[in-house]
Amino acid sequence: MIIQDITLRNFRNYREMTLLPHEGVNLFFGANGSGKTNLLEAIHYCALGKSHRITGDQSAVRMGEQFGVCEITVMTGGVRRKITIRLVPNDLNKKTILIDGKRIQRFSDMMGCLQCVIFSPEDLGLIKEGPSLRRRYLDMMISQVNRGYFIALQQYRSGLEQRNALLRNLRVNGGTGKNLLPDFEQAMAGPAAAIVAGRSKIVELLSDLGAETYRNISGLDREEFRVSYHSSLREAENPEEAFLAQMAESREDDIRTGVTSVGPHRDDLNLSLNKKNMKVFASQGQIRTAALSLKLAQMKVLRQVGGETPVLLLDDVMSELDKNRRRRLVSEISDYQTFITCTDESDLELDGDYRVYRVSAEDGTADIEETNAGESIPLAEPAEPDFS
Ligand SMILES: Nc1ncnc2c1ncn2[C@@H]1O[C@H](COP(=O)(O)OP(=O)(O)OP(=O)(O)O)[C@@H](O)[C@H]1O
Ligand SMILES: [Mg+2]
Repeated sequence: MIIQDITLRNFRNYREMTLLPHEGVNLFFGANGSGKTNLLEAIHYCALGKSHRITGDQSAVRMGEQFGVCEITVMTGGVRRKITIRLVPNDLNKKTILIDGKRIQRFSDMMGCLQCVIFSPEDLGLIKEGPSLRRRYLDMMISQVNRGYFIALQQYRSGLEQRNALLRNLRVNGGTGKNLLPDFEQAMAGPAAAIVAGRSKIVELLSDLGAETYRNISGLDREEFRVSYHSSLREAENPEEAFLAQMAESREDDIRTGVTSVGPHRDDLNLSLNKKNMKVFASQGQIRTAALSLKLAQMKVLRQVGGETPVLLLDDVMSELDKNRRRRLVSEISDYQTFITCTDESDLELDGDYRVYRVSAEDGTADIEETNAGESIPLAEPAEPDFS
């Protein structure tokens, strides 16, 4: 899929902006705070209906304005679609999503219209932090190509919330309502099995593609990156029955603690380098390479499973990569419509088809100006270390 145009109105530090991006690599450079990440965030909004930032909807509308709009025209398999997101400040419930001018009622109706994969500095947390980020990574990836999965996820989450609310109540007040637990568990069992099936299938693909991408970027055969899926239901012949059995078994403990202790909401991805847990043993550079490999592998998985090539968003990816890794990264992304940000134009040496834009915000309003296209930009030599 190819983004043909992007229009922003009162979105973050943009007032009114239309961009007709290149089909290949689009490089955006500019000073800190100029609006580079904001642009990628707008694309993410149109793909998934929400920000990739934690602060999301509350602060997305330009300060002092009554509404904000992100609009993208995307071409997918010969079909042109317009995706519009209208936001109202400080009101999470007043977000309107339109596809070709028609308002949609559910997020699931927009899934797949525009698929994107984003890498931002926070994604280093995929390796360094706890399992919730890794589950989110899997869930976002699968939801983009499998609407049934997205629906199962929502059903499971809603069942889990109800079960947890009841558990908390039982812990505090005791007795009443305990007999309702099996009903909630029954409603969660089907979605739980669908989630585990979706995750198992994707991680199988991800494992090989992640390892291959890691090798391509690092250029090292001696570093073997592996991804595997950890779930209490993964080995089960009948995951629905296994889920119900695990729920029944943990019920008394769950009442004591007030939370549901087993199920897909406790799944994880194991990430290892040369068979060692990356979180414990990996260096900073290895962590960055692994996080980036997971995102680039996600591009390949989505293309393989969904038949469409998503749009790639790379935010501030260059900062810790050495010259060779940057060069290898460029060859990894050359097949994709990519939006890549950096602070200096010379951070990246591009070949082939690409376009370069300067992002500035002199008076607090972001402005994007195309600077050049098609010429190779020399890569800056790393500065001599200063030992003084
Ligand atoms: N709702 C808003 N209204 C107006 N300006 C906003 C709003 N939200 C964020 N901004 C401004 O947007 C700017 C941040 O933009 P962005 O995060 O895109 O910067 P960046 O170019 O990615 O910078 P860096 O290189 O530091 O990552 C800040 O100056 C911030 O004040
Ligand atoms: Mg930024």
